[in-house]
Amino acid sequence: MKITVVGAGAVGATCADNIARRALAEEVVLLDIKEGLSEGKALDMFQTATLLGFDTKITGSTSDYEKTKGSDVVVITSGIPRKPGMTREELIGINAGIVKGVAENILKYSPKTIFIIVSNPMDTMTYLALTSLGIPKKRIIGMGGILDSARFKTYLSMAMNCSPNDLHGMVIGGHGDTTMIPLTRLATYNGIPVSRFLSAEKLQQVAADTMVGGATLTKLIGTSAWYAPGAAVATLVESIVRDQKRIFPCSVALNGEYGQKDICLGVPVVIGRNGWEKIINLRLSDAEKASFAKSADAVRNMNDVLKTLSL
Ligand code: 2OP
Repeated sequence: MKITVVGAGAVGATCADNIARRALAEEVVLLDIKEGLSEGKALDMFQTATLLGFDTKITGSTSDYEKTKGSDVVVITSGIPRKPGMTREELIGINAGIVKGVAENILKYSPKTIFIIVSNPMDTMTYLALTSLGIPKKRIIGMGGILDSARFKTYLSMAMNCSPNDLHGMVIGGHGDTTMIPLTRLATYNGIPVSRFLSAEKLQQVAADTMVGGATLTKLIGTSAWYAPGAAVATLVESIVRDQKRIFPCSVALNGEYGQKDICLGVPVVIGRNGWEKIINLRLSDAEKASFAKSADAVRNMNDVLKTLSL
């Protein structure tokens, strides 16, 4: 297996590091436009191989896409991250052109690759990849819901004073502060509904904290987070390369599912060797359905901005 990560900033580098540490591929290529950055970070990471006990080869490349040739999975993290006070949506003007250019270059050398899109606004960047690349939709996966779900379970575990590993829960909808939908009704503590352990008010607080999970970190750190995003990407990559068929909420092309068409939005999907293999149809309550429709409207408005950009 060969995995390319585009963008050697904090998110991209952490993705590459997690993929290598978990020995998910024989080779990881880290690519960036900044001269020497990816080569340096890749070499630093490769020097941890004997310390951590992996043998994934990690190399860097400054804008030389030939080095990415034959990648099975490509993770796109390129573009600018948000600063405190910014929404993910405000990044569209800069990131759309970058993501489109990167994806087209990648495709020249890896026509069969599976794309994982991380750049923000993620649902719109995933839609841009879908509409501009002309490859099967199952090979385009937007990474947001798996990260938001990890944050959801972390906040739940803090409220319940239990291990996050005993918790199951998903966040669907858009990967935005106001568009994501933490499904508190369906979250369980080893199969037992969490509503048995937390009051409605506490659950509402957990949902609210989850929705601004990324913004909270951006405010604290001064830029967008990277540890959980990197681990979330590696978990997705693992399900692909090991054909685990795990279920994660990911932003994928909807064609009537959840009442939506011509949009990429977070829904539970089975992730395996061929990308996202099928969409799991949840039975949503009326309130959840209404939130999903509202989320779709917001993401669709953002997608419309793409038409105003000269891409
Ligand atoms: C986040 O929520 C990077 O969008 C990502 O931290």
